[in-house]
Amino acid sequence: MTEYPRELALRTILLPRDTNAQGTVFGGVILSHIDLAGVVQVRKLNPARRFVTVAMDEVIFHEPVFVGDLVSFYTQVVHVGRTSAKAQVCVFVQRTDDADGEEVRVTEAEVTYVAVDENRRPIPVLRASQR
Ligand SMILES: CC(C)(COP(=O)(O)OP(=O)(O)OC[C@H]1O[C@@H](n2cnc3c(N)ncnc32)[C@H](O)[C@@H]1OP(=O)(O)O)[C@@H](O)C(=O)NCCC(=O)NCCS
Repeated sequence: MTEYPRELALRTILLPRDTNAQGTVFGGVILSHIDLAGVVQVRKLNPARRFVTVAMDEVIFHEPVFVGDLVSFYTQVVHVGRTSAKAQVCVFVQRTDDADGEEVRVTEAEVTYVAVDENRRPIPVLRASQR
């Protein structure tokens, strides 16, 4: 059985302004939330660091997201390098018309962040005491 991250980083309901020409939620809006959810998780490694996104990989849109769905972003850190860290983000929704409130997986992605200094140059993710 596939294991998905279960730590909730973000939860939201998307609005008609977030839709594409088909009337479903625009993929770019989902990506924006994925980016935020991943950094919420990664910054727990070292809250004193500022992180920038360097790559979004393996983005898969399995199912559409509809206006009004309760959208949850679950995350886990899957790799910590010297100056970078990668988070897996899985997006699940509860449909408004589903009386059972079952969560359906709609999107997944892996996002890599780099810790940077005030000059935006890479610096170690972890404090010396953590390494
Ligand atoms: C992130 C940034 C500071 C990295 O600078 P850089 O000179 O390429 O840094 P380095 O080559 O030393 O790589 C730094 C780390 O990033 C990782 N990295 C670089 N490119 C990567 C990529 N495409 N995918 C995954 N990891 C990558 C490296 O492996 C390294 O990790 P490690 O230290 O854990 O081994 C720079 O590319 C940047 O500022 N990008 C723009 C970031 C941004 O503005 N994001 C917001 C979206 S617009």
